[in-house]
Amino acid sequence: MKSMVIGGIILIVALMAGTYFVAGDSFSLGEDYINDLTMLAGLAIISISTMTVLKYVNQMKNDKASGELVEENWDGIGEYTNPIPSGWGLIFLGSIVWMLWYFFVGYPTNQFSQIGQYNEETLEYQAKFEEKNKNIDVAGLRAMGESVFLVQCAPCHGVLGDGSNGKAHDLTKRISKEQVIDIINNGANNMKTAFPAGMPAGMASGADVETLATYVAGGLKGEKPAAFAACATCHGENGEGMAMVAPSLKDYNDELVTGILKDGKKGVIGAMPSFDGRLSETQVKAAAEYIRSIGGR
Ligand code: HEC
Ligand code: HEC
Repeated sequence: MKSMVIGGIILIVALMAGTYFVAGDSFSLGEDYINDLTMLAGLAIISISTMTVLKYVNQMKNDKASGELVEENWDGIGEYTNPIPSGWGLIFLGSIVWMLWYFFVGYPTNQFSQIGQYNEETLEYQAKFEEKNKNIDVAGLRAMGESVFLVQCAPCHGVLGDGSNGKAHDLTKRISKEQVIDIINNGANNMKTAFPAGMPAGMASGADVETLATYVAGGLKGEKPAAFAACATCHGENGEGMAMVAPSLKDYNDELVTGILKDGKKGVIGAMPSFDGRLSETQVKAAAEYIRSIGGR
């Protein structure tokens, strides 16, 4: 018996070590109590099962059959007239009570909905997330932005944000010459929420298009072309943008990134889907901060 108990304890420790080895990463004391509870429950289940098995193995080895046999037997195999084991009886009665509870209070008649519960918990979690990150600093935003970016944006924009060889916008630069020429010639009205009126086509023509595209794609450095006056009415004297009128041409400020993520964008490269409702306000700000940090100004 002694060696069996020792064997059982070794088995419990080995099973717990195995569990920790496989799932130890998610075991973060205090941070997520659900994982901690799961681990505790695991310990309890493993210990109780091992000890129960040991008890019965031991009983099978040592117990002698006793009691009164019923009259019938089948090919010499008989049955004792033992009373119903009380544990079994309790579980039987308990399951009847549980069935009544389940039927009348639980799922079928009480309209409990797992999806509804999921939605409620998601909303609660999101509120907590926003509350927790209310005063998040720039470094925090950048780190959050990086994880959002790697999951949601990198499949198109590339892990480095450089647009995967022209498959999506190169976010390490503000905008390419080709894109500026396309917008001047064709206009654009993608971001209706942020800039309702949009940009009309043909705000410049002839040689001005080339000059303006070089200037804007070059980061608005050097001498300002005279033709920029037509652009400044909406984009501002120095291309810094105007709220609700036109985006900044200098940088990815929050207004521009929020606008793109809300409505998506179709341009000369291709189409970017809307992320409306898929990212929280803080996550959008974080994405903008991250894009600026990789050089998108
Ligand atoms: C009537 C106001 C208005 C004028 C004038 C105007 N724009 Fe725009 N521009 C906008 C708006 C609004 C957008 C955003 C378009 C959208 O929602 O897709 C925009 C977008 C752009 C973009 C794309 C920014 C991006 O990252 O998507 C560039 C580049 C641009 N304008 C350059 C110019 C230049 C160069 C001129 C001058 C020839 C000019 N714009 C004149 C309103 C204007
Ligand atoms: C399905 C592919 C795809 C995904 C996913 C995607 N984008 Fe884009 N994105 C594009 C394409 C294509 C463009 C260029 C559109 C154009 O101008 O032709 C673009 C353009 C942009 C621009 C520049 C727009 C401008 O006018 O200057 C920003 C900023 C941007 N994406 C941010 C993001 C962020 C942040 C995410 C993740 C939350 C993301 N994108 C996810 C395809 C994608």
